Parts: sequence; structure tokens; C-alpha cells
Amino acid sequence: MTAATLTAPSVQQPRRVERLIAGQPTSDGAGVKLTRVLTQDLQRRLDPFLMLDAFGSDNPDDYIAGFPDHPHRGFETITYMIAGRMLHRDSAGHEGLLENGGVQWMTAGKGVIHSEIPQQEAGVMEGFQLWLNLPGRDKMNAPWYRDFKNAELPRFTTPEGVGVTVIAGESHGVAGAVTRETTAPVYLDLHFQTGATFAQALPATHNAFVYVYRGEVTVGGQRVPAQRMALLANEPGSDGVVITASADAKALLIAGRPLNEPIAQYGPFVMNTKEEIYQALNDFRDGRLGEESHRA
Ligand code: CO
Repeated sequence: MTAATLTAPSVQQPRRVERLIAGQPTSDGAGVKLTRVLTQDLQRRLDPFLMLDAFGSDNPDDYIAGFPDHPHRGFETITYMIAGRMLHRDSAGHEGLLENGGVQWMTAGKGVIHSEIPQQEAGVMEGFQLWLNLPGRDKMNAPWYRDFKNAELPRFTTPEGVGVTVIAGESHGVAGAVTRETTAPVYLDLHFQTGATFAQALPATHNAFVYVYRGEVTVGGQRVPAQRMALLANEPGSDGVVITASADAKALLIAGRPLNEPIAQYGPFVMNTKEEIYQALNDFRDGRLGEESHRA
């Protein structure tokens, strides 16, 4: 994609940062150490996003056991592996090796049981897992899954020198690997050179955040250091976000249209009501979750 074919957005009233969030160190799966950047208490504020985990370690003890068989129902998981290799297998018969900049987009829908296991015994493992909610009417749809190798992801460089990977949504006229009509997610990985500025148009009502994973950026006059999430304000009239880096930096920009539906979560099940959660637990217990594909 050459600069000539890009359409730079004009952002007149950029968003400011509402607050900075450090995330919580935790462990999940079979003891994988990670930072939960988007925690449960932010689900309403950052609707339609339910969770963002950042994992990164060069100590195999922190990641080697991975995430053995576990279920999901009612939402989508997007795993972006910056470094390292993770093997994925699920009850719908899918299997894929996620590595070095690849993305796995999985729509759990009415249910999958899957495992996510590191395929390396040394070296750095780094990546992110984002949970994107599904509207109530789609929660019991059939599961869907796709792996994107790094080279398959839409990518461009702005005239200002910002490298952009468009995992979801649209940026500068470039369509992302995945688009979703209801939640309209935007998921960009931005690589800044020193002094570069990046602008993205965003509807004021869409919830949005920036997570910096290298260096430091400035958003609306607020410095955002590495390992911090900047939650962007939804002021009426704002038409986008402008991000500047005073030195080399890498950041994720994530935004989406809120569903404004009730959120009922119990671990890996996210539905609208308590009754639907009980149903999910019963279906899982009775072997009915993800059954039609792998127990046939
Ligand atoms: Co999972």
C-alpha cells in the first residue's frame, strides 16, 4: 500500500485521556503469568470489550503450561502473538499454529472447548488476548475461527512514518483483516518512529482505549508510558484520536460501538442473563457445549 492511495483522516476535535490504567498482574490457564489490562470492572465503561490480557515473558516457567482445554460461550477472542508460538486446537476441529505477529480470531458463539499451548521451551513469549462481546442475538450462533499469518494482515505506513497493522476495522481507507457490523471494532497495532503523529477518526460514542507496550506516547496532552492503558473520553463532538510519539513507541488502538446490553459473566461464559449462564454451565457439565463438532 503506497502513501498515495491512503486517505488521511482529518481530526478536528481529538479525544483526551479520561484516565490511565495500570492493569493487574494475575495468572490464568495452567499458571500463565499475565497482566489483565482491561479488568471486569471496566466492562461497562469499555463495552463492547470485556477483557484485554497482555502476556510477555522470557522465562518459560511463566508461560510453558499454557491454557489447557477450557470452554467459551457468548463472545469473541482475538489473540495477537507478537513473539513466540502457540498451538490452538478446538472442539470444532480447528487447529492452528499462531506465531510471530499472527492473529487468531475466534467467535465462540454457542460454544467451543479449546486449548492454547506454547510450542517453545525457551525464549520470549509476548502477545495479547482481547475479548469482544457479541450482541445477544448472535451469542448462540455457530462458532467461527480464522488464523491470519503476520504476512496476511493488512498493513501500511503513513507519510509521517507510522507503521499500521489493521487487525480489525478500517484506517486511512485500508480495511482490516476482520470487520464486524454491530460492534464495528477497530484494532490497530501502531509502530511509531521518533516524532511521528498518527490520527484516526472515531465516532464520539464509540468506546476507545490505547495500550502502550513499548516506549511512550502522548494523547490529548497526556503522556502515556509503556504498560499503561489510556482510556479515551467520549466527549460529544470529538471526532477521533491523535497520538504522538516523542521516541520510538508501539501501541494498540482499540475502539468499538457499545452494545448497551446487560452483561452476565461467569468465567469463560458471557451472556445477557443469569439464566443463560446457568444454561451454559449445564451444557458444559453435560457435554453439550461444543459437542456437535467434536463428539460426533
Ligand atoms: Co480460550
